[in-house]
Amino acid sequence: MNTFPETSPIVFYAPDLDPRPWLTALEQALPPGTELAAWPELTHAPEAVRYLVFWGDPAPPLAALPRLRAVLALGAGVDKSLHAPLPAGCDLIRLVNAGMGHQMVEYALHWALHFQRDMDRYLSAVREGAWPEHPYRPAREVTCGILGLGTLGQEVARALRRQGYPVRGWSRTAKSVPGVDTFHGAEGLGPFLAGTELLFDLLPLTAETRHLLDATTLAKLPKNAVVVNMGRGGTVDGTALLHAVDRGALRAAVLDVTEPEPLPLDSPLRHHPRIFVTPHISAQTQPEPAARQVAESIAALDRGERPVGLVDRVRGY
Ligand code: NDP
Ligand code: OXD
Repeated sequence: MNTFPETSPIVFYAPDLDPRPWLTALEQALPPGTELAAWPELTHAPEAVRYLVFWGDPAPPLAALPRLRAVLALGAGVDKSLHAPLPAGCDLIRLVNAGMGHQMVEYALHWALHFQRDMDRYLSAVREGAWPEHPYRPAREVTCGILGLGTLGQEVARALRRQGYPVRGWSRTAKSVPGVDTFHGAEGLGPFLAGTELLFDLLPLTAETRHLLDATTLAKLPKNAVVVNMGRGGTVDGTALLHAVDRGALRAAVLDVTEPEPLPLDSPLRHHPRIFVTPHISAQTQPEPAARQVAESIAALDRGERPVGLVDRVRGY
């Protein structure tokens, strides 16, 4: 049983969300009696607030909450909150998996099967009046590569492996994942890309990963490779990607994340026949598991322990 000081209310700030399911889930997950207030309806003096649970950019309420111990994101990516003016001693915490890994697996498998089974080619050929048959390629002939072999990337890597695909992964530091060929660091990127046919981007957006996939790195992929971006739009140079698909250097691209979001209506990425865009839904935060993890993180902080999703704000993720 954790010991929340009675004077430590928790503030919820998510202007873009319907607060009801989130407040219900948080009430159920937090210890009985915990004060929970939806910003700006505070029940206590702002100086008493130690935790802010938020979605999006936490900046607006920060100036009014001077004694925060931590701000807890309802998402796995924290690129929008990295530069928020947090009070001294205030940590940034993010979600780690919290039900998102399974959704990422579903999204990745959907597209892996789509391209392995040539659905893109068949559907467009039939629409254009043809009736072709391509040789069947088993999964073992289609190498998948995961950019960002972290919590979500490893779950996707294991699922693709189980489905029979050869899988390779790239990360900042060296990793060992059973059945997965691993590469790391700047020197590992070229060899990793050169052997990848279906590339799944699950990188966080940081100063180092911004436009990591640009004209130069995209050119290292084999001809007819596919890029599936499930991490953050800013990790890919959209203009370079569009050109690579358009001139046939890449077979196709799938963008669940873009820069900006939503994509402008006249963005060529929305209209290209070999670019498939979804509106940032590859993994949607689920209130119950997210609230349970938030409650566990707060309990860990109250015990003076390191919570699981503590963000290294210098590293950027
Ligand atoms: P993790 O922190 O667990 O994994 C990030 C991975 O990226 C790590 O393997 C890390 O390497 C690697 N990485 C980071 N920087 C670099 C770099 N400069 N060079 C090489 N590798 C790098 O994050 P998660 O798996 O939990 O989440 C990944 C991202 O997915 C989130 O940041 C978010 O942007 C995105 N996301 C998207 C969603 C959507 O709906 N589209 C939903 C949820 C998340 P190392 O292991 O060595 O540190
Ligand atoms: C996240 C997201 O980072 O939904 O959790 O993109």
